[in-house]
Amino acid sequence: MDKKIRVGIIGCGQIVQIEHLPFLSELPQFEIYSLCDLSAQVIAQLGEKYGVPAQRQFTDMDKMLADPELDAVIIATKDHYEPGLKAARAGKHMLIEKPLAYNLRQADEIIAEAKRSNVVLMVGYMKRYDPSYLYFKEQVEALKDVNLVRVHDFGGSFDFTNSLFHIIRGSDIPAEVLAKGAQDIKDAIAEQMGPGREHLGEAYSLVLGLSTHDTILMRHAFGRPKVLYADVHKETFVTSVLDYGSFRAVFESGLVMNRRSWDEKIWVYAGEKNLTLEFPWPYLKNYPTKLTINENEGDSMVNVDKVVVNNFQESYRNEILHFYDCIVSGKKPDTSGEDAREDIQLAYEMMCKVQC
Ligand SMILES: NC(=O)c1ccc[n+]([C@@H]2O[C@H](COP(=O)([O-])OP(=O)(O)OC[C@H]3O[C@@H](n4cnc5c(N)ncnc54)[C@H](O)[C@@H]3O)[C@@H](O)[C@H]2O)c1
Repeated sequence: MDKKIRVGIIGCGQIVQIEHLPFLSELPQFEIYSLCDLSAQVIAQLGEKYGVPAQRQFTDMDKMLADPELDAVIIATKDHYEPGLKAARAGKHMLIEKPLAYNLRQADEIIAEAKRSNVVLMVGYMKRYDPSYLYFKEQVEALKDVNLVRVHDFGGSFDFTNSLFHIIRGSDIPAEVLAKGAQDIKDAIAEQMGPGREHLGEAYSLVLGLSTHDTILMRHAFGRPKVLYADVHKETFVTSVLDYGSFRAVFESGLVMNRRSWDEKIWVYAGEKNLTLEFPWPYLKNYPTKLTINENEGDSMVNVDKVVVNNFQESYRNEILHFYDCIVSGKKPDTSGEDAREDIQLAYEMMCKVQC
């Protein structure tokens, strides 16, 4: 380790409190240098917990970004457009949570600004750093005869999070500030959807927020697909058929908010074997993603399921270490801004195929 990175957080909500801050505090590669959130109550409590002094707690990101001692930021607001542009202009390396942006124009502006300032722009797709996924990818590379892939991604209610983690929330953010934030996101989505497709905003937002975790893995494992068919039912159930050249994939995503369940799997049906990658609820720490390999035993009639537990490494921790590596080595992140843009493009192409 040659350099300790001074990192600041913009947006200190759920994901940051459950994943980023605990891992940053444990890793010697980073110093949690400054915190920014709209809620002064939240940063005061987090500042105390993680040893960030009051003079480096901010409710205004401009003030935080003006500090030349700050090397990098993690951006985990809901809307990353303004903080992404500002952090890039201030010359800070950036790990931006997914989705990079709610439309292609905003994504392009952030990417261009990061390029101009020569800073790392990495997007927080932690599943790309999941050891079971990486093993699955190796298995995929050895397949010659993929027939069909099925991706199923049904997110459930997150309300049991509070029974597992203590999330610090503030009651001091003015209602009009929250309302403006929500409206900015709606406007950005409407801009991408275009006239006549505004009603698909919820479905597009679901694909960007939830399913891009899988579209990025599919693209990395199999290449860029063409959207053959897409349907939206009950606003947030999206079914699409994607053409990856030598095979097709059925992609199902939806939100089942009245259920406390997490139901996310990728099945690969190939001539040689079948692979099933089953993701657990993402906030379970060190809980391995389950890879099942199903194949015939030699020429016998016996069919075997082999369950692979690659290791217990935590994806979010690997993601942060990759961010560090990119900052000190100058290499391009595996989940770069350009890469994340592809998923916004794909989500948009899916919505374009929906018959209105
Ligand atoms: N990678 C993952 O598995 C994963 C999981 C959950 C969320 N996320 C992503 O992380 C981001 C945050 O999600 P969350 O669930 O933590 O949301 P959240 O609402 O709990 O947290 C967002 C925080 O950002 C703050 N904020 C908003 N605008 C701000 C501004 N202009 N300046 C400073 N602070 C500001 C809010 O006050 C809030 O505390 C989203 O982009 C989401 O898609 C990723």
